[in-house]
Amino acid sequence: MLAALTCAVSLRVATPADAEACSTLHAELFEPAWDRASFASFFSHPAARGLVARSIAPAQTVGFIVGQMAADEAEVLTLAVSREARRQGIATRLIEALAETARVAGARVLYLEVAAENTAALALYRKLRFAERGRRPGYYVRANAPPADAVTFALAL
Ligand SMILES: CC(C)(COP(=O)(O)OP(=O)(O)OC[C@H]1O[C@@H](n2cnc3c(N)ncnc32)[C@H](O)[C@@H]1OP(=O)(O)O)[C@@H](O)C(=O)NCCC(=O)NCCS
Repeated sequence: MLAALTCAVSLRVATPADAEACSTLHAELFEPAWDRASFASFFSHPAARGLVARSIAPAQTVGFIVGQMAADEAEVLTLAVSREARRQGIATRLIEALAETARVAGARVLYLEVAAENTAALALYRKLRFAERGRRPGYYVRANAPPADAVTFALAL
């Protein structure tokens, strides 16, 4: 059992130097995982927006969000919070910060999609007043489990 980590957490814009920590956390939570080079590429791309959540003591990355902008639309590409730092509002802060960054950059809507069986993420997005837009049957193809449907959400900015 992991010890809960309850300490001050600050958000900042991600840089390529954050890629290693983000890929390590991503690999613990997602399959297929994004590698370090993928994060580094996003964190240096002008159309991408990356934020990391860092605990102060111990000084470590406890969450991240990656989004991208296209014209007046933004999309969340990935979001994660480490298991020991959950239910402290970190994902909420990451989404709200990304939404504000996208809004200031001219986006009018923030899209995302999530596996239909991901009850934690579904509850999070509904709490943040994302509107459900549709379902993509069998969208997530996985190596060791049947395909999962995706639910798509949108938030007006
Ligand atoms: C989904 C995830 C990002 C939530 O991160 P978090 O920092 O714990 O979320 P928050 O603390 O901001 O939660 C805000 C609200 O979301 C809902 N929520 C979050 N986790 C939940 C859970 N496990 N069960 C039910 N509701 C949950 C609750 O309404 C919560 O408010 P509350 O704590 O006041 O009840 C995190 O569980 C995670 O990283 N999961 C694995 C990766 C993942 O699924 N990413 C999203 C892919 S689209």
